[in-house]
Amino acid sequence: MRSFLIAGNWKMNMGPKETADFFGQLDDAVQQEKPGVEAAVCPPFISLPAAFEARKPGSAVKIGAQNVHFEDNGAFTGEVSTTMLNELGCDFVILGHSERREYFGEDDAIINKKVKKALADGITPIVCVGEVLDERKSNRHFDVVKTQTTGSLAGLSASDAGKIVIAYEPVWAIGTGETASPEQAQEMHAFIRKELTGLFGQDVADTIRILYGGSMKPDNAGELMQNPDVDGGLIGGASLKADSFAKLVSIAAEQK
Ligand code: 13P
Repeated sequence: MRSFLIAGNWKMNMGPKETADFFGQLDDAVQQEKPGVEAAVCPPFISLPAAFEARKPGSAVKIGAQNVHFEDNGAFTGEVSTTMLNELGCDFVILGHSERREYFGEDDAIINKKVKKALADGITPIVCVGEVLDERKSNRHFDVVKTQTTGSLAGLSASDAGKIVIAYEPVWAIGTGETASPEQAQEMHAFIRKELTGLFGQDVADTIRILYGGSMKPDNAGELMQNPDVDGGLIGGASLKADSFAKLVSIAAEQK
């Protein structure tokens, strides 16, 4: 069965010092291996070395990046490669976040190249999809998420698809304090799993974790994760403090 994943997306927050402080404050119990729950944080690139240094030896908290380029190396000013992330030991990379789509012009074709590159080099992509408010209001949210899902995952083999994580992040819920209701989340997660079944078959679709993202916090995480197709969270604001991140991991651990 699928394990839960609680992944913190720190966005453009937490420099190296704050990152080291976060790990220093993180409860030991949270860092122990727990059956059925994985935990990860994704600091900014510049804070990744500090995260690896500050993480206690044997800690089960994994570390990921928030983006990666699809080429091996070369003249791509400001970019970072999978080789560099692997040199540090990153387990995850967030790809296709709505902020990258909106502010940095990333489309499904670019995201697809990045997903393939991450998979080829052994880093688990957390692939983000989600509609904006207008699209939901005009009842186009399923179409939008279907297009993003099929576009971002185009050409993947079933065995590669089985390695990815999806994050459903309704853009209207990100950083707004407004959360999708448990029913809205479950409805969309089940829809995504149905699409994954069509693309890669039931067995593979059943293994892919689908996280919810958008104002998830300790207050609402339990009711969201109680849903059969919600396999954890991609969390922004509430992952920045060690105690609230720890609570989210404990809440996931209580679900199974
Ligand atoms: P918030 O949890 O701050 O709403 O951010 C969600 C998000 O975008 C995670 O990737």
